[in-house]
Amino acid sequence: MCEPVYSELSSDSSYEKVVPDIIQKVKVVTVGDISVGKSSLAMRFTKGIFEDQYKPTVGAVFVFRQMNYGRRRIIFQIWDTAGQERFKSLVPMYLRDAKFALLVYDVTDMNSYEAIPSWLQYIHKYAPPDIQIALVANKIDLIQTKTVDSQVAQEFAKTNGVIFEEVSAKTGANVDKLFTRLAKILPMEKPETPPAKKKIPVNPKLYLHDDEPISLSKCCKIK
Ligand code: GTP
Ligand code: MG
Repeated sequence: MCEPVYSELSSDSSYEKVVPDIIQKVKVVTVGDISVGKSSLAMRFTKGIFEDQYKPTVGAVFVFRQMNYGRRRIIFQIWDTAGQERFKSLVPMYLRDAKFALLVYDVTDMNSYEAIPSWLQYIHKYAPPDIQIALVANKIDLIQTKTVDSQVAQEFAKTNGVIFEEVSAKTGANVDKLFTRLAKILPMEKPETPPAKKKIPVNPKLYLHDDEPISLSKCCKIK
């Protein structure tokens, strides 16, 4: 049984104790150019850590985190893909049954933003039609070197019907908020109903072909 949690939708003054009774697994895939911070975002969200040193992802890495949201315990299963061109052909495999794609760019790297339309096409080509996409502007802590305009990116997201969130994997700014937004739009799954218990008759009867049933208690005695 899960611990009681506070519903994230509740207002500060009227927290409501909610015991999550629905467990939902959801596949999230990170996509985007090299070094935009996809792995850092995944690590910040799942482990609460950040590393300054760049270690390019090879192929893809799987990480997960559970998050309580109202009645639901959502298990975000994150496939963090590699941005290097040589691994791009692997991305469709991860997108195939994904619920969410986090399309990440680096706010200090205009090239990574300019690559977004082609990544978007790539996602639409290989992901299920109902995939939800979030355009994620990462590294907002680097205010001095920011080159991608927030308004422009936001407009782009709106035009293309995707979520937009500005985050910093380094400071953690808006990272939980991003996943809470995903939780909010994730359709609620019906709780699994436990299988009905088989009723064992008190006086079981044997059926011999078309004959009349014979009561066990009358015909046999088991010692
Ligand atoms: P690939 O795996 O090669 O596709 O790269 P990636 O997109 O996973 O990037 P990664 O998370 O490895 O980060 C690349 C570099 O950016 C690392 O040196 C990180 O420390 C740095 N970085 C990531 N996120 C942030 C951030 O929010 N702020 C700052 N200042 N640096 C960041
Ligand atoms: Mg990576």
